[in-house]
Amino acid sequence: MALRNIVEEGDPILRKKCREVGEVNERIQMILDDMVETMRSAQGVGLAAPQVGIMRRMFVAEPTPEEVYCFVNPEIISVEGEQEGEEGCLSVPGMAGTVVRPERIKIKGLDRYGKEKVYTFEGFHAVVMCHEFDHLEGILYTDKASDVHPVREEL
Ligand code: NI
Repeated sequence: MALRNIVEEGDPILRKKCREVGEVNERIQMILDDMVETMRSAQGVGLAAPQVGIMRRMFVAEPTPEEVYCFVNPEIISVEGEQEGEEGCLSVPGMAGTVVRPERIKIKGLDRYGKEKVYTFEGFHAVVMCHEFDHLEGILYTDKASDVHPVREEL
């Protein structure tokens, strides 16, 4: 596995719509594994393929430690309710903002092995999945946030 460089806001790559993955082959699995390693190294809870310069519809997430999800060609099937919370993004370092997201979502996609999975997520899990899904559409949380502000570094 290898760490990949994270693309930052301002790079047009983050604004493009990603294309579907044709087949979950070894190359795709290698990219997903690299993305998990890169996300963990950067202490993030999610990372989408365009953030490492790959314009394909896939993302990884670890909303709570040791609970890793890989989504290939994800689809949000349904959304319910509303919640408001503070978000950040590895592509927008040092910043945070308040975003309104669905409280509960149903999402389906292929896992690391190309197997179809369906999940219902709520709370923070739903926030993470919606945030990462948006990256595949070229959307950043800063587009939806009511106040984007610098985060004070804890010493
Ligand atoms: Ni992000």
